[in-house]
Amino acid sequence: MGDEVMGDKGVGDEVIEEAARRFLADADATEQFARALARTAPVPAVVLLHGDLGAGKSTLARAWLRALGVAGAIRSPTYTLVERYPLAGGGEALHLDLYRIGDGAELEFLGLDDADATLWLVEWPERGAGALPPADLRIDLSIQGDGRACGLTPLSPAGRDWLAALTTAQSLAAPT
Ligand SMILES: Nc1ncnc2c1ncn2[C@@H]1O[C@H](COP(=O)(O)OP(=O)(O)O)[C@@H](O)[C@H]1O
Ligand SMILES: [Mg+2]
Repeated sequence: MGDEVMGDKGVGDEVIEEAARRFLADADATEQFARALARTAPVPAVVLLHGDLGAGKSTLARAWLRALGVAGAIRSPTYTLVERYPLAGGGEALHLDLYRIGDGAELEFLGLDDADATLWLVEWPERGAGALPPADLRIDLSIQGDGRACGLTPLSPAGRDWLAALTTAQSLAAPT
């Protein structure tokens, strides 16, 4: 499975390939990675979290929100579809889990086209196709042995710059 080549993801006419892949050995590694993503993210940032149940999407989202200073309970949006968190630096983070929606039209009832949203973390984004803002980064998580494989695909110019900054930040932070 480690050598599996992931399919290209088309965005409009443009075919975009996965740009980076890393292995997250345990939940701590996922949380550390979430902090690096939070530090380097553009504003606003729209992030698609792909992966099967148990792949670690919510673990990543929760650590990301904590890194942004969210102090209270971080509830799962499984039933509410969206949880909103005002951020200390202004704006608002939206955590979505679209596992239970029938189609993108249901999302419109939530009034999500909120100009205050500075971060979108979307689990099961494929179920909200057509009703989400244009994404900057796609993250693919999958179970690999005791850990998780993580693929990163930039989906916008901001996403491309972000990935470059992330790579620099991570290599500077990496233990030698
Ligand atoms: N890199 C990792 N390696 C091993 N286990 C992980 C890793 N990241 C998260 N986990 C664990 O896997 C489970 C993932 O659950 P969750 O984050 O709710 O997944 P999802 O939201 O994708 O369904 C949690 O028990 C979490 O502790
Ligand atoms: Mg989840």
